[in-house]
Amino acid sequence: MKHTTDDLRKKWLNFWAEREHAIIPSAGVLPDNDPTALFHNSGMHPLVPYLMGEKHPQGNRLADFQKCIRTADIDEVGDATHLTFFEMLGNWSLGDFFKKEQIPWSFEFLTETLGLPLERLAFSVFAGSESADRDEESAELWKSLGVPENRIGYLGEDNWWKKGDTGPCGPCTEMHYWTGDMPAPESYQDTWEDPRWVEIWNDVFMQFNREADQSLVDLPAQNIDTGMGMERTVAVLNGMTSVYETDAFTEIFEQIAQLAHFPEILENKVADTDKHNSARIIADHIRTAVIILGDKVSPSNVDQGYILRRMIRRAVRHGRKLGVNDNLCLPIAQAVIAKLGAHYPELLTNESFVMNELEAEENQFRQTLEKGEKVFGKKVEGLKGGEVEGVLAFDLYQTYGFPIEMTQELAKERGLDVDIDGYQKELEAHQAKSRAGSAGKFAGGLTGEDTEAEKKLHTATHLMNAALKKFVGEHVEQRGANITPQRLRFDFSHEEKIAPEVIAQIEAYVNDAIADDVEITYSEMPVGEALEKGAIGAFLDRYGDVVKVYDMGKWSLEICGGPHAERTGDLARFKIKKQESCGRGVRRIKAVLIDG
Ligand code: ALA
Repeated sequence: MKHTTDDLRKKWLNFWAEREHAIIPSAGVLPDNDPTALFHNSGMHPLVPYLMGEKHPQGNRLADFQKCIRTADIDEVGDATHLTFFEMLGNWSLGDFFKKEQIPWSFEFLTETLGLPLERLAFSVFAGSESADRDEESAELWKSLGVPENRIGYLGEDNWWKKGDTGPCGPCTEMHYWTGDMPAPESYQDTWEDPRWVEIWNDVFMQFNREADQSLVDLPAQNIDTGMGMERTVAVLNGMTSVYETDAFTEIFEQIAQLAHFPEILENKVADTDKHNSARIIADHIRTAVIILGDKVSPSNVDQGYILRRMIRRAVRHGRKLGVNDNLCLPIAQAVIAKLGAHYPELLTNESFVMNELEAEENQFRQTLEKGEKVFGKKVEGLKGGEVEGVLAFDLYQTYGFPIEMTQELAKERGLDVDIDGYQKELEAHQAKSRAGSAGKFAGGLTGEDTEAEKKLHTATHLMNAALKKFVGEHVEQRGANITPQRLRFDFSHEEKIAPEVIAQIEAYVNDAIADDVEITYSEMPVGEALEKGAIGAFLDRYGDVVKVYDMGKWSLEICGGPHAERTGDLARFKIKKQESCGRGVRRIKAVLIDG
């Protein structure tokens, strides 16, 4: 019988429940308190505070399955093994048991519960470094269970797990399965780089923290953190060479087969043709998009919303390659929700949000594509056998979201080349600019050393935010802010253009607050208390537990890192210069303070 994701999920949870682990629900994909990452990318990620020593309400033995998104390899998606969204099975000891228990349990789960033959298994342990010892203990434990010595390998960096440049980390022992047709090679140490050895599980001995100065300090307790990629392990259990052959994708491919009149995708999912590649990209990207939307993120031009937008647009583009010219996303999203809704109930609760956003984004992108194609056609009219300029290729990318490959495809149809070097140059110049621009995007949009002008504009931002909520609506929420000495820029959730008379009301509110000349004070309190007091707070997940609340009398109360002007009266006259749309459902205002 074929192994399925739900079998494996059940076996996993039962196994750990029998060993006194509390089964905890998956966290959302958006990190609560980690500005260094856009998405949770492993099971341990939402548990960092507990690995750092905080007490978990459900005890010190935990197990779960967690929604994870990894975006580093987006361009690899389409091959047999890379997924953007995947599920990770995990179990944890928070200072409770350690290697002596975890390693025998891992062995039991693999060889007995899953029935994997020992002849196909190999185990890697940490080889040691300047700052941490070689992990002989783990090697001895594996041997004591009957693992032959030549199936244990000592690896360096690969067996040191870290969440990032700083944070919890430690040596790990990984379990690998031989997926080749012939018997596994005798020595793992000599063959570990062979791609037919597939890592299926990782036990991390999370006992250190890497500080900002790169020193390694002991965590309050010795923890166990483990992770097993669910789709990958199911593929291995079934002797499949690709995650796309597992039941996780069956219904998705059935939809694609129908929409694209492409039944072959159901027969041979690993074939290395452009068409198969496109089908896999569509499957992965829409599945990921549904998961992101399930946590109420909308497509936009920044952060998670931008990744989401890319997922949807790339899927639509590959759909066109397969001849699907409308309504690609919804049927596939339906299949994803049917498959995963039972495990992630937010997909069911937010189903109409997911569907509406997907549909709108798909339609909008299709229109943009058409416009872009027209522009392209006009610009290259009459060009024969020549080259499409890099500036045009970049403009198509920037304005119409045309990835360079698409411009190349269009060019090819007309017998033209694209000046790739020129395009790269434009792109790099643009990236350098936007990196400089985003360097200070936290702390309310202020950068490092703040000038007096910036502090005043920051204060004006608070007053304007309060006015937006009052005159535009309670739904207004900050989406981003950026301040230079000359102007403030503020992005917030709102659909339509704001009428001129409402703009006038907002300006009047801020200018009245300035005329009132109230003292600006702040106090520190827990987030909960701040919200109870009615403080406005966006990006709450980016703040620690205790926050600063800035008080401007009756005019504004807002959670913020500061700094601000001392009195509202320090500000000159407030004027809104411009409003514009900035991604669907997000508006942008630019405003200034004018003397006199
Ligand atoms: N945190 C470890 C991993 O993601 C288990 O591999």
